[in-house]
Amino acid sequence: MILQPSRFFFSQDDPALRPRILLAAAAAGTSSSSSLARKPGHHHRKPGGGGAARAACRHLAGLPLASVVRYARADGAGPSFSAPSLSHGSFSCYSAGTYLSGALHRATMGPLDPGVPYSYSVGDPERGWSTAFNFTAPLAPGTGASAAPYTLAVVGDLGQTADSADTLAAIVSRGLGGPAPGAVQSVLNVGDLSYADGFQDRWDTFGRLVEPLASRVFHAVIEGNHEEELAGGRAGFLAYEARYATPSNASGSGTPLYYSYDLPSAHVAMLGTYADWGPGSPQRAWLAADLAAVDRARTPWLVVGMHAPWYSSNTAHLDEVDGMRASLEPLLLEHGADLVFCGHVHAYERTHRVARRRRHACGPAHVVIGDGGNREGLALHYISPQPKWSVYREASFGHGALTFANATHARWEWVRNQDGPGAVPGDAAWFVRGGGGGACSVADRAGLVAAAQADFVASLAGAGLSGSARTAGVGYATETAAAVAVA
Ligand SMILES: [Fe+2]
Repeated sequence: MILQPSRFFFSQDDPALRPRILLAAAAAGTSSSSSLARKPGHHHRKPGGGGAARAACRHLAGLPLASVVRYARADGAGPSFSAPSLSHGSFSCYSAGTYLSGALHRATMGPLDPGVPYSYSVGDPERGWSTAFNFTAPLAPGTGASAAPYTLAVVGDLGQTADSADTLAAIVSRGLGGPAPGAVQSVLNVGDLSYADGFQDRWDTFGRLVEPLASRVFHAVIEGNHEEELAGGRAGFLAYEARYATPSNASGSGTPLYYSYDLPSAHVAMLGTYADWGPGSPQRAWLAADLAAVDRARTPWLVVGMHAPWYSSNTAHLDEVDGMRASLEPLLLEHGADLVFCGHVHAYERTHRVARRRRHACGPAHVVIGDGGNREGLALHYISPQPKWSVYREASFGHGALTFANATHARWEWVRNQDGPGAVPGDAAWFVRGGGGGACSVADRAGLVAAAQADFVASLAGAGLSGSARTAGVGYATETAAAVAVA
């Protein structure tokens, strides 16, 4: 069905006028002048077939559309919403089979005052505005040891079921932005977003479902296998790339499939499971440069987000991307990564500090948080006995919250949906930087990095390191089959 442009593009209910994409761009803009502009400029070819499909999108050509956001501080300390600032952006669109997207607007607000509430609406001065939304500008990045405590919500494999809605409601119930302790200041989403799986209008419904969250705080996403779709007979990340803004250019990656950004006391590297991660790949070179440029005085914590786990003892997807681990783990160990968040497995699991597939005081802790609530259900089965590196594992829907207390201590909570708001977390832990009081010496780390590098070199001689985990457009089918197999 082809909708009438006059109705589709300018309705107040038009997903193209909704602000979820806008906020990602805004968050990148607020930090670009400080932390992200320092990165070396690697500009890589975007994987996927998105460019060709976008070039074929002509249904909006020639229409007099504007992409404007008007905004003002909502705390009374600046110009009111009756005298707002205006930012002008641009729009794109895409087609996939008979599906024609709405106009996907991107505009960057700013400069914004960090941590300050703003009101904003999006639209076109000639045709009207969306309803007003409120959001909190991202906290100032890179404030190091002086950063006040703040909370990051972590979610994965969300989808758009009743369980997904419960997960989102649980995050929203913490409070979004604002100064209250425990209020969520940004969201780390480790991928498998809409489970559209080629049905493009599911991206629109997913956007509406996530809007109460994504319209109010920075929502950082990275691709999962369900973001790779067939469109026009080609596999690629068409909808993901068209709909989600990431600070990819500012962080030097040049692709939304992997990038980085800064929080007040943490550098967050988002890795691409479905981009090339092998030896000699642009991603590996980018990650090495990105991590080498981190100033741990500005961002003491080093956090990694990605889709498929390196450490999981669930039978679903077991060791599926061990080649990625072999290729990239040496870099995380060399630069002292503290925490790794991932999804893909529809369950929860937290590990001890690990490296080279065993416990090690110099490695990061890994958390599988693929329990957001998607339609494929939970991954119920685990290998037995539980590996020594695994602390806690459970197949229940929920979300995580990480509160950075200071430069050395962070509090982690995993909350089940069925326990309700305010319940005792299903799992909780303090993460302590520095190996927990000197357990990881300089010599220990040097030895570990050398061993991991030797593993990597040895793996090059075998057939273990292929380029990426891409599955040529059938990733969703593969995962569906796996979920059925373990159900
Ligand atoms: Fe997945």
